[in-house]
Amino acid sequence: MVNIGVLISGRGTNLQGIIDNIHNGKIDGNIKLVISNRKDAYGLIRAKKAGIETLHLDRGKFSTEEEYNRRIMEEFINRDVELVVLAGYLRVLSKEFVREYENRIINIHPSLIPSFCGKGCYGERVHEMVLERGVKVTGVTVHFVDEGTDTGPIILQKAVVVKDDDTVESLKKRVLQVEHQLLPKAIELYCQKRISIQGRKVIIN
Ligand code: GRF
Repeated sequence: MVNIGVLISGRGTNLQGIIDNIHNGKIDGNIKLVISNRKDAYGLIRAKKAGIETLHLDRGKFSTEEEYNRRIMEEFINRDVELVVLAGYLRVLSKEFVREYENRIINIHPSLIPSFCGKGCYGERVHEMVLERGVKVTGVTVHFVDEGTDTGPIILQKAVVVKDDDTVESLKKRVLQVEHQLLPKAIELYCQKRISIQGRKVIIN
């Protein structure tokens, strides 16, 4: 049983996917704490409904990014969290945090990395760029977090076809459905200890 800490900033539909897959027995894990940087994140309600401890940490109450990240780390370490999941978390983690949890932080990104990612490219902006570029295929990437932005070793990817009449809304909806499959799958594999990392490559046994 792996202790999991989740960071969110918004609706928490990816968090819901993890909760549902713990309840149906696929993920051999236990969410010890959900932390949001936004007080109004609906994901906090989802966690509470599932009986999971929640915490809102207001960045404005901390003097530096390091201080803020140190508090998050403290909360997770105090609960023996082994795996940290960024489920729609829109802040960048400090280098100290990434080092402390090296290869134990999983993030989900709504494109096929290395396309349409990096600084400032998250959420709906990703889909806007996909439609502007006119690519025929986009998708979802689940990856380990390293000290860069969306640059860590890739765990799983799945393609999503872009339709000629797609809007940001229709594309986002279809990509999100794949996110809700892929993130729980990656966490399930991690909990089964079936993931190993060789250099930049992730091997699933
Ligand atoms: C998703 O599009 C995800 O790819 C991105 O942020 C959004 C969060 O959605 N990381 P939710 O809060 O999980 O519903």
